[in-house]
Amino acid sequence: MTTAVHPVPVPPATAAGGLPLAGHLLAILRDPLTFFQKQHAVGTEGVVKLRLGPKPVHLVTRADLVRRLLADPVAFDKGGAFIDSAKALVGNAVGTCPTVDHRTQRPMLQPAFHHRRIVEYSRVMQRCAAALAGSWQDGQYVELVDVLHRLAARVAARTLFSGPGAAHAAEEIQRHFPAMLAGLHRRMFIPVDWVHRAPVPVNAAFDAALHGIQRTVEGEIRAYRAEEAGGADRGDLLSAMMRARDPYTGVRLTDAELKDQVISMLMGAIETTGSTAAWLLHHLAGEPQAEETVLAELRRAVGERGVRAEDLRGMGALKQCLTEVLRLYPPFWLLSRVATRPVELGGYLVPAGADVLFSPYCLQRDPGVFADPDRFDPWRWDPDRVTPAQKESQLPFGTGSRKCLGDVFGATEISLIVATVLQRWQIGPATGLRVVPVVKGTMRPSLMPMVVRRREEAYAR
Ligand code: HEM
Repeated sequence: MTTAVHPVPVPPATAAGGLPLAGHLLAILRDPLTFFQKQHAVGTEGVVKLRLGPKPVHLVTRADLVRRLLADPVAFDKGGAFIDSAKALVGNAVGTCPTVDHRTQRPMLQPAFHHRRIVEYSRVMQRCAAALAGSWQDGQYVELVDVLHRLAARVAARTLFSGPGAAHAAEEIQRHFPAMLAGLHRRMFIPVDWVHRAPVPVNAAFDAALHGIQRTVEGEIRAYRAEEAGGADRGDLLSAMMRARDPYTGVRLTDAELKDQVISMLMGAIETTGSTAAWLLHHLAGEPQAEETVLAELRRAVGERGVRAEDLRGMGALKQCLTEVLRLYPPFWLLSRVATRPVELGGYLVPAGADVLFSPYCLQRDPGVFADPDRFDPWRWDPDRVTPAQKESQLPFGTGSRKCLGDVFGATEISLIVATVLQRWQIGPATGLRVVPVVKGTMRPSLMPMVVRRREEAYAR
């Protein structure tokens, strides 16, 4: 990056919340979303320095600068607290590795996400969604967040593995995933090793969950290797990853590397899709006009049969609703990089070794870019209304060389689940409980107690 002017040191954050010794840490722990939104409201310079301990931490508050930093993965490499704690679990996988390794890892895994493969995975997604929608009774109470996280775990396991052990693997992953994720969140917020090794029940639960998932994944890899001699490609994610070759050396992933990639895939795929599907159903349940528009589209494009991935192309309203919930609730609400050398950004000098943070959540709720930013308004994405500034600020999947590898996979899965549920069920709140975003590492919804009512007649209208 070059600039005509000499970069100046990054100014300290001016928004309230800093304490003499603890810096901004307490304010962040108390209410992270409000803290970062306040910094954005006053941080119009584009980069501000936070006080979070001995290491300098810089927050980038302008979308154009975030896009610039994401376009330079050499100067701004992967790193930061979340990546460090994820690395302790999955090692050097595609989502956690530094740029130098990413140049080989990403092309190796890319074919597993080719359009043809997604069509095959979509059949699994469809079956899982239909099984869920078929399992409910009229008037049943469901806690939507838990149900959809479980469904997402099932979809992830069933798209990864389709061999004879797939059903067992899916059950194991569904069973162990919540405790593993809770442990990961704790590690991210409390980066003190001995705390996580202390012999207390939460650590024991985490260890058991991690080992359970590792055992399951290792078992599946062994079984696939045993039949690999016959050249079988099951059309699933694991088959695709096993066939992957280093673009430079032609070497394949070892079993240990495969295990890390699979677990990191599970971590990236389950909570994100489950939470987003829950938010989308929640908003449609509360917005009759948006729900009716999506239903009308569904009746036209699909009718009474099951929804297929091909149908989604003709479902612009559903796509806009999905874009809007990803704007309001990006699961990765805060992302980080590490400056590998002194580097200029927006006229400021970011020193080597600095952690650099940016928040898709805050950028996507910028009142200067999105009118009435906290309101669910899918029609702001109408092709004749959407503005270049909105497009620039919308970053739920990131951008650049580290952009989400599963963006199409995830969008297809969420859309199929939501469309399949909507066809059959009308969902309404079971209590007056307000649903709010909860930050536990990633951002997810609080509990969603709902009642489901059979829709056949309304849908047939
Ligand atoms: C709503 C759904 C999802 C959202 C919002 C989401 C978001 C993201 C974001 C923001 C990143 C980039 C992080 C960064 O720049 O530091 C990312 C990376 C990644 N995601 Fe997703 N994700 C979703 C679903 C999925 C799914 C379903 C999979 C896999 C099946 C997946 C696999 C990955 C992988 C492997 C990476 C690392 C890419 C790389 O570094 O090259 N994601 N995701």
